Parts: sequence; C-alpha cells; structure tokens
Amino acid sequence: MAEPFTALIMAAGHGTRMKSVLPKVLHPVCGKPMIGWVIDAARAAGATEVVCVTRPGEGVEEGLPAGVTVAEQTEGEGTGAAVLATREAVPGERPLAVLSGDHPLVAPEVIASLVDAHAGAGAAVTMLTTESLDPAGYGRVMRTDDGAFDRIVETKRTEGLPPEVLATREVNLGTYVFEPAQLFTALDRVGEEDGEIYLTRAITAFAAERSVASASTDDPDVAQGVNTRADLMEVEAIARRRLITGHALNGVTFAAPDTVELHAGVEIGEDTRIGVGASLLGATRIGRGCDIGPHVTAVDTVIGDRAGAAHSALIESEIGEEASIGPFSYLRPGARIGARAKVGAFVEVKGSTIGADAKVPHLSYIGDADVGEGANVAAGNITANYDGRNKHRTNIGKKVKTGVHTSFVAPVSVGDRAYTGAGSVIVEDVPEGALGISRPQQRNVEGYAERVEEEKPSP
Ligand code: UD1
Ligand code: MG
Repeated sequence: MAEPFTALIMAAGHGTRMKSVLPKVLHPVCGKPMIGWVIDAARAAGATEVVCVTRPGEGVEEGLPAGVTVAEQTEGEGTGAAVLATREAVPGERPLAVLSGDHPLVAPEVIASLVDAHAGAGAAVTMLTTESLDPAGYGRVMRTDDGAFDRIVETKRTEGLPPEVLATREVNLGTYVFEPAQLFTALDRVGEEDGEIYLTRAITAFAAERSVASASTDDPDVAQGVNTRADLMEVEAIARRRLITGHALNGVTFAAPDTVELHAGVEIGEDTRIGVGASLLGATRIGRGCDIGPHVTAVDTVIGDRAGAAHSALIESEIGEEASIGPFSYLRPGARIGARAKVGAFVEVKGSTIGADAKVPHLSYIGDADVGEGANVAAGNITANYDGRNKHRTNIGKKVKTGVHTSFVAPVSVGDRAYTGAGSVIVEDVPEGALGISRPQQRNVEGYAERVEEEKPSP
C-alpha cells in the first residue's frame, strides 16, 4: 500500500468499436466490469477516494460500485477535458493517480509503486512508461540529449512525423500521478488540437519547469487497453490465467485450465479438483476436497466440502457436504440439496429441499417440494406443482420410498416412512407409514394374440 492518494479513472466515451449497447468500460472481464478491475486495483493500492469521469447518458454511472464519486464530462473532448471535469471532485491535498477505465489489467503494485516514486521525486507529475511494447499508436516519450523529459508525441497518425519520433521505443502508458493543483492550472492553459484537449500537453508544459519524473515498467499488462471485442478476449484470457494461478497456489487442481470459464468472485477450497469445461460463475463458493467433474456450470451456487458434481447446471443452489450431483442434473434457483444426498441423471430440482441422505437418482422433476431426510424418490417421479395459475408445494416425509413413475399433484403431502405404488397419481395426502396407490386395476385378456391373428385378412 502506498501513501494516501486520490484515483481518477477516465471512463467517458461509449466505445463504438465494441459494437454494443453496453458502454465499453462496463463490459465484464471474468464477470467483473472492466472499470471495476481498475477501481479495485486503485483501492488495493491505497486510494482513499476514487473519482470516475463519465459522460451523461452513457449509463456508466449505473454500473459503478458503491463509494465511487462520479464527475460528468459535459464539455470538451480528450483526456485533458476528462481531467478538467473532475476539478470540483478532486481534493487538492493528496496526489492524484490518473488511470484509464479501459485498461483493466493494471495491477495494484504498479499503481502503488508509481505513487511511491512520485512521493520521492518532488515533481508535478510522475509518468509511467515502458519500452517493452510495440510502440505503434502510443504517445512516444521524447527526451533531450541529457535524458530529461521533453514532450509526448502522439502517433495514432504517423504522416509528417519526424523519423526520430517513430524510432522512439519509450511509450506513455497513460498512467500518471500528478500534483492536482498544478495539474488543473496547467490544463487551463492547454489549447485544443484537432478538437481535443490532450492531457499530455500539460505534461509537456511541466517539462519546461523540469518538473516531470517518470518510472518505467516491463509489465506489459498495464498497457492492454480494450477497444474491440478482440482486445477484450485477450484481456480476459490474461485475467483468467491470473485467477486460475491464484487458485492453484491455494491448493486447487485444474484438470484442463485452458477450458475453464472462471469469474473473479468465485471461491474454491483446498484439495478441490475442477474438471474440463467447468464454468464457475458469479458468487459461486466451492468447499474443500470437492470433485467438480467435467462440464459443470455453477452460477451463484454454494457447494459443501467433499461434494461431487459432473455434467450439470447448478443455478443459485445450495449443495450440502458430500452430496453427489449428476451427471446431467439441472438444479434451478432455490434447490437446496442436503448432506450426502444424491441427485442423479436427468433430474431437475427447483425451489425444493432434498433432505440429508435422500436420493433422487433418475429422471425426475422435483419442483416446489420438500423431500425428507433419507427418502428415496424412484425413477421418473414428477411433482405437478403448477395448476396453470399458481404454484403449490409437495411434501414428502422422512424415509419415504416412492414407486417409479409417481406423480404428486400439489398441494399434497406424504407422511414419514410412507410408500407410493409404481405409476400412482397421488392427489390426496398419504398418512405416515401408509402405502398410497392409485392406478387402474390390470385386466388380462386371455388368447388375445390368437384372436388378432384370426382376424387378420389373408395376404
Ligand atoms: C492516451 C495518451 C497516449 C498514451 C495512451 C496509452 C493522450 C492524449 N494520449 O492515448 O499518449 O500512449 O493513452 O494508452 O492522453 N477519455 C475520457 N474523455 C475523453 C477522452 C478520453 O474520459 O474525452 C478516457 C477514455 O475513456 C480512456 C482514456 O481517457 O479511458 C484514454 O483515452 P484514449 O482515447 O484511449 O487515449 P489514447 O488515444 O489511447
Ligand atoms: Mg486508449
């Protein structure tokens, strides 16, 4: 953590090259909006206040986390105009770190070390630069013969630029720490060029006072700006790799890390194994010693220790310790699976509790039901929970054993230790310990085959 500073994150501009209705900086990277990564990095580095520059009506404001100050850029174009929009919002007494909302991979350490470098430099600005990138399109850092900073030359358009500019490898990463009072005074004097106010012109002005310091980095990730969906894919791949490596160092095994989709907010316990093709999303929390097999999608789901799942979709559900899910289970919101319970192949559970040690192994739909501890729901059981207007609950008691192909027409209750007969449609409550059976009597028609053969017309 660096000494206290204010972070200013520039995020105005919809980002038309993303071809999206969503503003660029709200596009998620591993489930967290791009600008959220920058805000979190600034806070982790020790920012006491975060100010974001947005444009009115772009909808960025609605996507920002709590505690961020918004400054609206209502006039002017360019990075200088963006900073000028924050004059009222930025406290004068602390240094001001300027960051870009579309550079989500900026690491807290990079920000903190720039703030520290600035504290020791006594300059109006400390600028982050690198020589370890292809410099095309970046602002080049031009220095005098004695190595002092001279000016920044933009190279998005190269016609008419002197060869010594194009040969310069040192580029401006768009990440700076300023003395705010000096910054605003300098920007007031910067004029428009091509309809824009360039923040970098203020830095050139400080050069005349020999008041520019710089720090260089060879971490190219800070330079990964996002302008297109192709950039977004690259950035997400790096962010995901970092997350997976972090989990691996905490004791998680990934069978095929390059096939996993992983959100930043996911927690995974030690000794858990994550199989090929897993999508672990939202606020999913997975316990210790779990075996999350191939192709599990988990969204906002909590999984207890030593539980297992494979080839299943687990949406806003809770799974108890040592429970077993799948293959091919679909847990929908509000599914709560007890400890050691089993939900098996082609079973869908929604808004229901499956008690500890209960089993629903095959081909069932359990909706809006409570299944007691130790119950066994046989193959092909269906809760008829919806009468076309309202949902109703089914209650299946402890240690109940249902027959295959039982339908429960809710609202209906089956008492503890009761049974249902195979193929029954249960419309009335079954008392504790009773057998509920409802199916037409079987009738066998003797000699049926011969009769059919006699009636067949001869060929
Ligand atoms: C800027 C630097 C360039 C540097 C590069 C590094 C200037 C003039 N140039 O160029 O030297 O090499 O970053 O990536 O600063 N923004 C606003 N309001 C605006 C314009 C921009 O908030 O009116 C925000 C953008 O949302 C973005 C940031 O400022 O987050 C940077 O703007 P961008 O247009 O990407 O600057 P570059 O051309 O990349
Ligand atoms: Mg840029």
